[in-house]
Amino acid sequence: MIKKAIELLGKNKNLHGLFINSLSVLEFAGARKIIKSQKAENIDSEVLSHISEEIRHARVLKNIALKMSDGKLSSYKKIHLLAGDEAWNYIQTVDHSIAKEFETSQPWLNYLYTTLLIEERAMKVYPLYSEVLEEFGFASSLKGMIIEEENHLSFTRKHILEGDPQSERRLDKFRKVEGEAFEKFMSSVCTELSILKNKNSSQDDACAQHI
Ligand SMILES: [Fe+2]
Ligand SMILES: [Fe+2]
Repeated sequence: MIKKAIELLGKNKNLHGLFINSLSVLEFAGARKIIKSQKAENIDSEVLSHISEEIRHARVLKNIALKMSDGKLSSYKKIHLLAGDEAWNYIQTVDHSIAKEFETSQPWLNYLYTTLLIEERAMKVYPLYSEVLEEFGFASSLKGMIIEEENHLSFTRKHILEGDPQSERRLDKFRKVEGEAFEKFMSSVCTELSILKNKNSSQDDACAQHI
């Protein structure tokens, strides 16, 4: 589905701007989730780095979205996003499905699993999309993010292996939920893109109206 979205985005800067703003929301939602889920007393330097890097990613993507839209995509309002509700739902679905697995609340394990699944997804999406953004001159911004996402992935993988003897079984289950949730998000992105493209014969006009 991500390939279909990339195809629909084509070379339209305005549409890419909306899509990148939605990616920015995902990064922001990830950072927010960490802050809300962890007690302050358990937050160490590693977790602080993780939060600040996710916020940085949200900002990097937001800045690209602003450049792509000549400054118009200034907020996370629905009108400035593609499938905004579904972007938030994606993070919630992944997080809640993990919470349901444990009989008692396990905020630390929950955080680790949610992060791992989202990072695995990021490692599939960002390298692919980075190549697309090369044409617009933004590939290097994503490259820095990919390195940091790789670090988050190894950090969570290490802690999950140490902290949960049932990690393999659980990961199989969680990956299935995450995969379906991501497809749902991308399917809404594709639907919105198709509507925007069909609205007017000119793609730029259609997107300008959305903005
Ligand atoms: Fe990130
Ligand atoms: Fe990350």
